[in-house]
Amino acid sequence: MTINSSAWQTLFINVNLATMTDGANSYGAIENGALAISDGKIAWLGKACDLPIYDQESLNIIDGLGKWLTPGLVDCHTHLVYGGNRANEFEMRLEGKSYQEIANAGGGIVSTVSATRKASEAELLASALPRLTALHHQGVTTLEIKSGYGLDTINEIKMLKVAGQLAEQLPVTIKRTFLGAHALPVEYKDKPNDYVELVCNEMIPLIAEDKLADAVDVFCESIGFSVEQTERVFTAAQKYGLPVKVHAEQLSNLGGTALAAKYNALSSDHIEFLDEAGIKAMKEAGMTAVLLPGAFYFLRETQLPPMDLLRKYAVPMAIATDANPGSSPINNIQLMLNMACTLFRLTPVEALAGVTCHGAKALGLSKSKGQLSLGFDADIALWNIDRPAELCYQFGVNPLNELFVAGQKVI
Ligand code: NIG
Ligand code: FE
Repeated sequence: MTINSSAWQTLFINVNLATMTDGANSYGAIENGALAISDGKIAWLGKACDLPIYDQESLNIIDGLGKWLTPGLVDCHTHLVYGGNRANEFEMRLEGKSYQEIANAGGGIVSTVSATRKASEAELLASALPRLTALHHQGVTTLEIKSGYGLDTINEIKMLKVAGQLAEQLPVTIKRTFLGAHALPVEYKDKPNDYVELVCNEMIPLIAEDKLADAVDVFCESIGFSVEQTERVFTAAQKYGLPVKVHAEQLSNLGGTALAAKYNALSSDHIEFLDEAGIKAMKEAGMTAVLLPGAFYFLRETQLPPMDLLRKYAVPMAIATDANPGSSPINNIQLMLNMACTLFRLTPVEALAGVTCHGAKALGLSKSKGQLSLGFDADIALWNIDRPAELCYQFGVNPLNELFVAGQKVI
């Protein structure tokens, strides 16, 4: 293949690349490397000694001073848009109440629903922006935002619109997921099946028609929706051509993951209680396991996700913040990298794959995001680190030096 270096606009030299093209097997490292960008895409990468001849004058050349490039980070599971906060419930939990007890007593998700319904689009946008900014300043260039605190048609759509508006505020790619089946709204207290019907017959059709979401999620749990109700939502999503994903096996093993596998779900998320049969089903369906160490930590869970079985079946593991007001009020991807290693015993390679190539896969973006690979979007982070494991080892000092999105320097 002839290389047209005259089409390059930007060239990184004197850098090491963690390409993340090898899943969790290795960093896909290219030391003493270089990387060129053309029209927002990665146009060349390799060893510096193999660089073709290029015109120094017409190029923006960035000297990486021997530091590391990674793909822009992917946070594939967040609930960034919501009203209010739940610091009061944090206090209640510290006085001995459990997450489930608080939820059953009318707190939990439904208390955020009241605050979210009351908030205007502008208010929701203003409160979500600092959370998004925090993640972006840590190198996040792609993220998912779920609805699920509106729980009626107008407010679910409001949340999805705000999630879309956030992408106009900062240079990030946002994938939107409709999570109408997150909790039962109070007005449907004794009528869960009627609410599921509303989700399936009114919300999903409208959202699909207006292209307000890229996927549909369900909280399949005793305090959420049953497997049977989850299946009804999946059937509706499938009818409207929307891929599905699931919050499952977080607090008990109901079988939501195996069901999601039947619908070729993108991912099953949380999965602390998942068993081997569920993992096999994930593997066969090509799903990604999204591990959420922030929720595990904040809820002081003790049941670890089945990492060894996920490894045995080579199910890709993504890591995400689950940023939300109840179970993971944490807008910090570096802390997640650290916790994935300290709490879940992931290796730094697995953790970094979790917020790059595997995070992208969980969003259906494995062909364009999450890797330094030819033709991929030039979403690239330059880190002030000497080895990639530093990204997992330390948090509290931001190692991000420069950030590029579609080839443009944004930080
Ligand atoms: O991902 N599991 C369900 N949903 C969120 C919690 C949301 C909340 O408590 O507000 C989660 O952990
Ligand atoms: Fe979640």
